[in-house]
Parts: sequence; C-alpha cells; structure tokens
Amino acid sequence: MTEPFYVTTPIYYVNDKPHIGHAYSTVAADVLARYARLRGRPTRFLTGTDEHGQKIEEKATSLGEAPQAFVDRMSPPFEEAFRELDCSFDDYIRTTEKRHEEKVQELWRILEEKGDIYLGEYEGWYSVADEAFITEHDLEQLDEATRKQVKRVKEESYFFRLSAYQEKLLAFYEANPTFVQPEGRFNEVKSFVKAGLRDLSISRTSFRWGVPVPGNDAHVMYVWLDALTNYISALGGPAKEGEAPLFDRFWPPGADVVHIVGKDILRFHAIYWPAFLLSAGIEPPGQVWAHGWLTINGEKMSKRLGNFIPPGPLVEAFGADVVRYYLMREVGFGQDGDFAHANVLARYNGELANGLGNLLNRMVASIVKRSLGGVVPEPGPEEEIDRELVATAERCAKQAAAHLDAVAPHRALDATWELVSAANRYVDRTEPWALAKDEAKKERLARVAYSVLEALRWLSVMIAPFMPKKADALRTQLGLEALSPSEGEDRWPASWGGLPAGTKTAPGTPLFPRIDKKDEKAILEKLGVGAEGVVAEGDGAGDEGAKKDAAGKKAKSKKKGDAGKKGASADGDGYLAFDDFLKVDLRVGLVKEAEAIEKSDKLIRLQVDLGEEKPRQVLAGIREHYAPEELVGKRVVVVANLKPRKIFGHESQGMVLAASDDAHGLSVLGMEKDIDPGTKVS
Ligand code: MSP
Repeated sequence: MTEPFYVTTPIYYVNDKPHIGHAYSTVAADVLARYARLRGRPTRFLTGTDEHGQKIEEKATSLGEAPQAFVDRMSPPFEEAFRELDCSFDDYIRTTEKRHEEKVQELWRILEEKGDIYLGEYEGWYSVADEAFITEHDLEQLDEATRKQVKRVKEESYFFRLSAYQEKLLAFYEANPTFVQPEGRFNEVKSFVKAGLRDLSISRTSFRWGVPVPGNDAHVMYVWLDALTNYISALGGPAKEGEAPLFDRFWPPGADVVHIVGKDILRFHAIYWPAFLLSAGIEPPGQVWAHGWLTINGEKMSKRLGNFIPPGPLVEAFGADVVRYYLMREVGFGQDGDFAHANVLARYNGELANGLGNLLNRMVASIVKRSLGGVVPEPGPEEEIDRELVATAERCAKQAAAHLDAVAPHRALDATWELVSAANRYVDRTEPWALAKDEAKKERLARVAYSVLEALRWLSVMIAPFMPKKADALRTQLGLEALSPSEGEDRWPASWGGLPAGTKTAPGTPLFPRIDKKDEKAILEKLGVGAEGVVAEGDGAGDEGAKKDAAGKKAKSKKKGDAGKKGASADGDGYLAFDDFLKVDLRVGLVKEAEAIEKSDKLIRLQVDLGEEKPRQVLAGIREHYAPEELVGKRVVVVANLKPRKIFGHESQGMVLAASDDAHGLSVLGMEKDIDPGTKVS
C-alpha cells in the first residue's frame, strides 16, 4: 500500500504528569506508525500537549504560577516519557505554539464565513475536569468528586451550529462505515447523533487562558475546538492546495488518517470534529479508533486517588520494549484492561524469555555456534516438517499484517507468538543437538538450523513495530543489519529463504534474560509495588496541587494474583488462543496426604506438594474411584492458579486433572517419570 498514512494520539492535558494511560495511547499509535513505515508507506505520526483551558488555568493559579510558565514546565515531561518509550513521532505539537494558534483562528474565521458561528448566551453546567458542557442528565451520572468541579455558567458565548450538522453527520457515517472503531462504539455515536444535536458553545468569557476569538478579545475559544484543530494545524492546515505540503500529503483525500483516542473522548472526535471539518469544507479523517481504559493492579487509575503510575520507572525496570510489548499484548485493543505488575513479569518470563529469547539462544548461541562454526549454513533438502514451519510462518506473517491493518495489535502479537511457539516446537521435534552428534546427519542439521534462523529473521520484522530495539538486537545476533524502513519498500516478510547462507551470526547476551523470583521481588519493591500487589501512592503531578487532589486517599488493597487475570476465552472461531492456554498454570504435584471428607461420599482432601513452601490443599471429587491411601505418593497434574474456593467448608487451592469414561471409570492424570513437584506442565 502506498497511500500516505497519518496517525495521531490525543494531545495530553498538562495539568498532570504523564502516566501509563497516556503511554498506552501513544505506544499504540507508534506501533501503527512503525508498521506503516515497515510496509514502505509515507508515514507521519503526531503527538503533543493540550495546554489551554480552564482546568489548566485553575491548576496553574492554584500553584501560584503563570499559565504559560506552568505549561512550559509541564509539557516537556510528556515528550520525554514518549521518547523513553521509543515512540517515533515526527512532530510534537503544543497548543500554545504560534503555528497552532494562528491556524485555530483561521479555522474559526472559515466557520464564521460559512455562517456556522453566532453570538448568544450559554446557561448551563460546565465540567472543568472534562472541559465539557454538560446536561442535567450528564450531571447526575458523574461521580461525586467530578460533580464538585462542575460549575454553573451563565455568560455570553459564541455558538457553532452543530444542530445543522445532524443529517450531514449521519450521511457521512453512512458513507464511511468504519469511521469509528470498534463498531459498538460507532453505534453509540450514531444513536447520540440521531437523538438530536444542540448547538455547541465554543467560547468563554469568564477566564483568559485560551486562543482569543478573532475580532472579539473578550472571548477565548472553547478548548476542544482549539485542541481538535491540532491534527491539521501540525500539517499547516487549514490551507488551500499548494500552500501546505504536509497538509496536502497527509490529510484526506490523499491520505489515510487514524486518530487514536481513549473511549472517554470519542464524542469530541466522532461528532464535533467531523462537524467542524464539514463546515470548513475539509474532508474528515478516515478513522477514529477508540481504545479502552487501563486499571492498575485491578484498581481504577484516578488522578484523585493519586495511584497513576508514570511510565519512567517501568521503562527503567523492564526496558521500553517490554513495557510496549506488555501494553499491546495484555489488553485487547478497544477493550478495557488491567496493568498488573505480576502479569508483566509472567509475560516477560513466559513469552519473551522462554518463548522468543529461548528460541534464539538455543539456535544461535548453542547449535550454530558449537556445531556450525557460527555461520548460517547452506540448507540441505527440505522435509515435510520443514515445509510445515514455512507454511506456519507464511500464515502467521500474513495474519499479523492483516491484524495490524485492522488496528488489532494484540491479535498481531497472537499471530507472531504462534510462530514463536511453532518454531520452538520444531526445534523440540527435530532435535538438532542430536543431529549435531552424528556426522551422517550434517546435511539435515544444516536444514534444521537454517529453518529456525530464517524464522527468527521473520520474527525480527514482525516484532519490530512493538519492540524496535529488541528487533534490531535479534537481527544483530543473526548477523543482519538493523531494519531501515524506506518509503516504497515493503519490508514485511513474505518469501522464505531471504537469509543468506554464509552470514556470520553474532551470539550475544540473551535477548530477554530470565527474571528469577529474587529479582522479581527486587523489581517490584523498587517500583513501590507492595507484597499485596498494590502500587504505593504516587505523588500525583509531583506538585502541591496534585497532593491536594489526592486528599490523602489511599488506594484500596487488593490481593496479588487477582489482578488483571482475565478469564481464558475461546475466540469467535472456536479456538482457544495459545496465550489464553498459557494463562492456565499447570504444575506437577506430589500427593503427600489424602483423606476422605466426612459427610461427602465424593470428596477427598489432598495435600499436594507443588514445590512451594507449604503443600497446597486441594479437594477432588474422586472418592468413588480412589481410596485415599492409593493416592499418597502419586504424581498428579494440578491447575495451580485457580482462584481458591470453599467446598464443604474446606478451601481448595487448585484442581487435580482427571478423565473418565464408562468402561474405566475415572483416572487421575499422572506422570510417567518422577518429574519434580512444581514443574510447569505445558
Ligand atoms: N486533552 C484531551 C484530548 C484532546 S485531543 C484533541 C484529553 N487529555 S487527557 O490527558 O485527559 O487524556 C488523553 C488520553 O489519555 C485520552 O485518550 C484518555 O483516554 C487517555 N487516558 C487517560 N487515562 C487513561 C487510562 N487509565 N487508560 C487508558 N487511557 C487513558 O482528554
């Protein structure tokens, strides 16, 4: 695809410091930008800060600072946070910049010329926290703290004739059926518009911190009209053709535009923004993608609670790539999700260290180095199992691309990790270490090693939008150059065999060194995550005002382990995603004690050694098939991460797997060999 691609994030209010929710929007946009560049598309990625409005003026005043000095201090940490997260934005816009203010005024004049702006009086409610005019009904829906910030306003105001755009918007939605994603949210938008639109107040007179209304200095513009315009002002628009090359190139009709926004600000983007643009005779963007909200270790993240976590320390602890990977992997894009520190560690060790890291290690640092002189071999003849791996790679790469095209980064990662698992399985089945011992199997070894190295090369591209540094580190170990996207050149892997034989590999430090239990503890402590999985209360914006906001409220304590564990669920196609399967923690257990439960003819209470400090108590409904004493000393398979529950007044801390049929009755799953208790079953 060669159509230019323009992706944007919301511009962030600078009344607080950047947190992981902001990072989420920006990382998602960055993944799309990096992917588009890899596909050779002319790409532009914009982020920035939203610096005007009553909320910011009030915050600055409460700190005794001039608004301009305040925003000048508060904006750079956002840019730094996004750079630390390796976000590759081409432009960072601040709404207090002249280039922006001028364009906002220009847009105002255009709307005015169209006859869509008139002077009137606004009487009603205004939520300073949301910078939104709200109805009586909205007011009732707000939580108490936000309601406190809602003001009654009665003042002269300019209005935009939004009511005149109801039909035009509906027609526009009809003609652009994927304008808002996910689809469910689009339906909400349409219903809202169908219910009727009222004219929108677009100026204020009771405070000063905003872009002055052209021709009437008593008014400053409504901050959302100001803010939304950033998407075009950063390109030099509004502008006539030929006046602003970036606008000509990266705004429709010539370009494909995606605004990434949080679900809370969809209404502004899906209704007001296209209405302003339709009025101005400018084509609206192609798509507004509304993502969900993150909670932290199961708690709602709130500025008032002060439990929002800055991305910086996470980047320091795990590295930018891992944080990016986790954010994109954990939460289905478009849905709400949880950021749980314990899950970052679990995914790190499970998917990155044991999955991809291990694949690289066992091949490059082990087989190729020891048995092939560290060089990519000339592959021998292909066998069926090799062809299967190629087919899997082709399917996964195609699927990952299709998912990224459809803004489903989590699914792209699913597809990518399917290849990681397939390649690891291929190594297990082909046993290259055994081939290496047999001189007669040298040719076969060469083919097996080549297949894995080529799969790793493909993976280095597929992970690049998510983990750009790790992608290049992986390539370095394969002896390849860093990925360098170039317009017009599609770098997505498509044809097998691109890795040249003879390439000298460069085994280095493990891509994802395993984090052991001791280090896990140290990391969590450093991040201020207590034993209970609760983030210690942060200091909000790190200034007096935020401390006041926090008002001494502590985040409620919550059990570690509960947090963020979503139920494993089958996809719409009836398959269980591999990662969902991985969420089930299956362990080898050694039965130490077993006794029948009184008053139950089914239940046996087992004490099972899972390699932990204490044996686990597990209740199993197997008494009709086993005498308790038969079970002692047996190795069984236990689901170790089931939520504990009470059965007959006894807590069961796991589940023993078994199968039954009519002919044989029930049989508990055992182990053929004496595998150590606690060993993971996979
Ligand atoms: N300034 C406006 C946007 C103007 S765009 C023309 C604004 N700023 S914000 O700083 O309050 O929020 C910016 C983005 O961060 C929103 O998309 C919001 O959804 C997102 N998030 C804030 N907290 C979040 C979470 N807890 N989780 C995920 N995203 C969240 O709104």
